[in-house]
Amino acid sequence: MLDKLFEAASAAMKKSYSPYSQFPVGAAILAESGAIYSGCNIENAAYPQGWCAETSAISHMILGGDHSIREIAVIAQKKDLATPCGGCRQKLSEFGSADTKVHLCNQAGIAETVTLAELLPLAFDLEAS
Ligand code: THU
Repeated sequence: MLDKLFEAASAAMKKSYSPYSQFPVGAAILAESGAIYSGCNIENAAYPQGWCAETSAISHMILGGDHSIREIAVIAQKKDLATPCGGCRQKLSEFGSADTKVHLCNQAGIAETVTLAELLPLAFDLEAS
């Protein structure tokens, strides 16, 4: 299953539309149902209008009827360890939990696995403590 998740992220990265940054990124979510949803970054000539690979993958997950992330793999063509940006960490925390596994990949496969809580300690949520 982890191989499939990595392959899905890698395949998505190859479809990245990133002519401005030349920084292709791919992400693949293993959702609670067992389905895999992938996505790539999509940029725009008006730079702030582009969005991240993780965001695309979340969008596909929601459209597929899933709302819960079990694990996610992220890969960037030009990084030895792809780590989600701050905004994506917050988006992932909406659909994941503290122990959701985030697989940080390089071109060969999963290089390191961390949890969402490690990536986003003290995550914002509306249920105040
Ligand atoms: N990018 C992602 O797709 N995911 C991240 O977590 C970090 C950044 C994209 C956005 C932009 O298209 C390119 O990488 C360079 O920042």
